[in-house]
Amino acid sequence: MSKKSSAKAGAAKPAVVKKSAVTIDIGISEKDREAIAKGLHGLLADTFTLYLATHNFHWNVTGPMFNSLHAMFMEQYTELWNAVDPIAERIRSLGHAAPGGYAAFSKLTSLPEAPAQPPKAMVMVQILAQGHEAVARTARSLFPRVDKASDEPTADLLTQRIAVHEQTAWMLRSLLEE
Ligand SMILES: [Fe+2]
Repeated sequence: MSKKSSAKAGAAKPAVVKKSAVTIDIGISEKDREAIAKGLHGLLADTFTLYLATHNFHWNVTGPMFNSLHAMFMEQYTELWNAVDPIAERIRSLGHAAPGGYAAFSKLTSLPEAPAQPPKAMVMVQILAQGHEAVARTARSLFPRVDKASDEPTADLLTQRIAVHEQTAWMLRSLLEE
């Protein structure tokens, strides 16, 4: 008797997951979520590609500025490494899969691959400065859609990323001045 009544109340066994439980309804349309996630795929690929180039330059930098550039590149690649996770997880929060392979990233990124042969130290600095500017442009280009969809968390993420890339680009450009 009691068994029957508890089953009736739905307390005993978990119900079959209803479609409504896996359907995303966060107040952003499916079309906007898809377009924003697609834009974030590009930002993730750019960030990872710039991370990889910066880490590569940390390994391969030579010349009289070795110490300071080796340390500066480490600071920069660490920041970029930490940035890929929130970008990927925002894509997941929007209901889409995050890309993660080299082939996918090289197709999605707006950045050229780092040179196969390590360039001179100041060429590395120039490549990274241009890379940070390119990622800032990618992030900025997503704003109209994000604004239109009232996607504040993505707007917040983009704002933070743009500030970092613009500041890092400025610091790198400053090293190139006489
Ligand atoms: Fe190291």
